[in-house]
This record gives sequence, structure tokens and C-alpha cells, in this order.
Amino acid sequence: MFTKAIVRTPGRSMVFGLTNANLGTVDYEKALLQHRQYIAALKSCELEVLVLEADETYPDSTFVEDVALLTTRCAIITRPAAPSRRGETSRVQSLLERFYTCIEKITSPGTLDGGDVMQVCEHFYIGISARTNLAGANQLITILGRYGMTGSTVPVTECLHLKTGVTCVSEKTLLATDEYALRPEFAAFKVLPVAGGENGAANCIRINGKVLMPAGFPQVRQQLIDEGAQVIEIDISEYAKLDGGLTCLSLRF
Ligand code: GLY
Repeated sequence: MFTKAIVRTPGRSMVFGLTNANLGTVDYEKALLQHRQYIAALKSCELEVLVLEADETYPDSTFVEDVALLTTRCAIITRPAAPSRRGETSRVQSLLERFYTCIEKITSPGTLDGGDVMQVCEHFYIGISARTNLAGANQLITILGRYGMTGSTVPVTECLHLKTGVTCVSEKTLLATDEYALRPEFAAFKVLPVAGGENGAANCIRINGKVLMPAGFPQVRQQLIDEGAQVIEIDISEYAKLDGGLTCLSLRF
């Protein structure tokens, strides 16, 4: 069970956030509304939501998942590859110090974004991507090993982050785009290939028995319902314009 989530209010500078999406300009007021709706959805999953203040210095800082990895035994502060995001870690670390006695760090030359890490029970799949390098992944695997957990790598070639294209919707079931649906790393899972080219729906979050999914993907919604999932849809159109997904917007622990 998760009991808490950390989110970070977007600043007006989010309109200058990193993106390859080509989905248009962010509407900041709409983004704030969607952020409040996201928080409400987390609360409906029985989470206490800790809301960090906006920081205009860091346009992408609302994507709080990228700067830390939270496990039941330790927190790991990441080292984002994007230079504009490096400074995002310190505020999140200071909040985590209230909850964790063991805080580890990814260090140079390693880079790692939390969006590249998919946890399934005590194993962590780590995407090797434009943001996460092998040095960062190996550091994380070593840290996890010290706490009795394991990790392994998966190549990321088409998406920004691993979890842009594959997420865990139950302990035995993944939702995946074509890039991941047939990967040997995931052969032990039941893999639901996203229906109808609805790739934007692959980034879902499983929280306390419910599955949060982005709004606007009716075929994937039906797939999840057919799997017995209790689905909550959230409109995150303004975050998608910055390559952001549902998982990126919170840290759950
Ligand atoms: N805009 C989110 C990221 O590129 O890190």
C-alpha cells in the first residue's frame, strides 16, 4: 500500500519546459486545473498528498518523479541528464529527509531519470535512454542490491522514458506500446499491447488497487476494464505537450 504522494505545482515557466512532443503551447491555467484534478485523483486512492511549491527556476520541476526513486527501504536521489533539471533534486531531497533515514544518490558520470524506472514488486526495470545511461543504471542496481532488491536494464529507443511506453497495471500485467510488447525482458508478464495506436495511454499508474490513466483513450480504457481494473481517467493534455505522463507528476511511497 502507498500512503503518501509528493507532487510539485507547475510554475508559469513550465511553458519553456523540455519537449519533443509538437502538441502546441501549454495553457498554464488549464495545467493548474489539471494538476488540482490529479491531486484529487491521488487522494481518491487514499493517499496523503504533499504539495511542493512551484519553482520558476526549473520549468520541468512539476515532473517530480524524475528526481527520485522511492522504495520501502531507501530513497534514491537521481541525477537528471538534462542540465536544466539538475537543480530540481535538492528541494525534493529536503522533503524526503523527513520520511527516509536512508537516502542514496546517483553520481557523475551516471545519469538517471525516475521516469526510466519501472518497479514490479522488488525488481526494478531501468530504461537505457537519452536520459538514463548505463553508469546511472549500474549505480542504481548496486544500490538496490545493498537493500535486498534487484534491477535490470531495458533499451529505450522510441520514447523519452521507459515508462512512456510500458507500465505495470498489476503485478503480472503490463500495458505496453509496440516497442515493448514483445521484449524478452517482459516475457514472464501478460502484456496488453495498447489498442488502436493509443500509445499515449501506456503511461498509467497503479495505486492501491486502482489504475489512473490519461483521458481520451477509449480502447485502452476498455482493455483495462476488461482486465478487471478500477480505472480513474485524468486529463493531462497540458503535460503531454511537455512529454509528461501521469507517473511523472508524482512520487508515491
Ligand atoms: N518535459 C519533461 C522532460 O523532458 O524532462
